[in-house]
Amino acid sequence: MEPCVTKIALVTGANKGIGYAIVRNLALRYSSDNPPLTIFLTARDPNRGQESLRKIKQELKSKQILKDENGNVDIKFLRMDLIDEQSIKDVKQILENENGLDILINNAAIASGIGEFDINVVRSTLATNFYGTLNLCNQLYPLIRPNGRLINISSSVGMLKILSSPELQKEFSREDLDIDELIGLMKKFENDVENNQWIKEGWPSKAYSVSKVGLNAMTKIFARRADSEGKNILVHACCPGWVATDMGGPNAPRNIDQGAETPIYLALDENVVPETKNGEFWRNKQVVPW
Ligand SMILES: NC(=O)c1ccc[n+]([C@@H]2O[C@H](COP(=O)([O-])OP(=O)(O)OC[C@H]3O[C@@H](n4cnc5c(N)ncnc54)[C@H](OP(=O)(O)O)[C@@H]3O)[C@@H](O)[C@H]2O)c1
Repeated sequence: MEPCVTKIALVTGANKGIGYAIVRNLALRYSSDNPPLTIFLTARDPNRGQESLRKIKQELKSKQILKDENGNVDIKFLRMDLIDEQSIKDVKQILENENGLDILINNAAIASGIGEFDINVVRSTLATNFYGTLNLCNQLYPLIRPNGRLINISSSVGMLKILSSPELQKEFSREDLDIDELIGLMKKFENDVENNQWIKEGWPSKAYSVSKVGLNAMTKIFARRADSEGKNILVHACCPGWVATDMGGPNAPRNIDQGAETPIYLALDENVVPETKNGEFWRNKQVVPW
């Protein structure tokens, strides 16, 4: 009989919004027949993170899911700030002590207000959404065990068509694009904004959208790496839909549990998702063109 190894999941930006619902629904949907699962709820602020952990445990009480009620799920808090290099290294160390990771869900992101656009907004948005997520992936991807999953929460506003330049669209979607070339494209955006020529060069006046274009391209690069390594690691990006959160605003039609549906599907589905080509962009549990 195989030893019963505890599965490990980690969700970024999980103290509120869609990330919070992803942690709760991972716990609720994880089969009681499976090996134990530890979910690391990560947040950049320890107080907000601990408070969310307490709240989630309260919500799951009496459901016989959690370890202290003889269930097979444990939830723990870890501090992780995408723009704090040391916090990423600390998380890596903890996961090394756990002997790896099975599900990584990159959910944390920021979005500036509508119409806010200048070089500072571009730099801060890319620092969190693109470079922070890339740094975390670089550090944690090698720890993902065979049959693991890497899910990036992206957005439909990160579709290629938001780039008005066909050349940029072609570059971002190149089948052999590597990480250094992708960073080069993101730097070009930053430089073009700084030099006041971003519109002429075919970029939108939307830092958040470009950060998600970058995330979608990054997803494909990690998917190709996974395929070439043959460890059967699934890598996908998805849009949660328009969700009522601090980011999505109060008028959004979906609640956070509905927003968590596709990420949870990608993290846990045992049939449809593994049969799909790696590195796809998903919405409403379906692959859609990027
Ligand atoms: N809501 C929507 O309609 C919608 C639509 C499409 C895609 N999305 C995507 O879905 C994901 C979740 O969005 P949401 O609506 O749930 O947003 P949210 O309510 O604003 O939550 C964002 C989370 O990210 C965390 N975060 C921000 N900067 C961070 C950093 N540097 N390090 C670590 N964590 C950080 C926040 O922490 P703090 O609480 O400390 O700020 C918070 O936990 C994002 O990737 C977003 O782009 C959302």
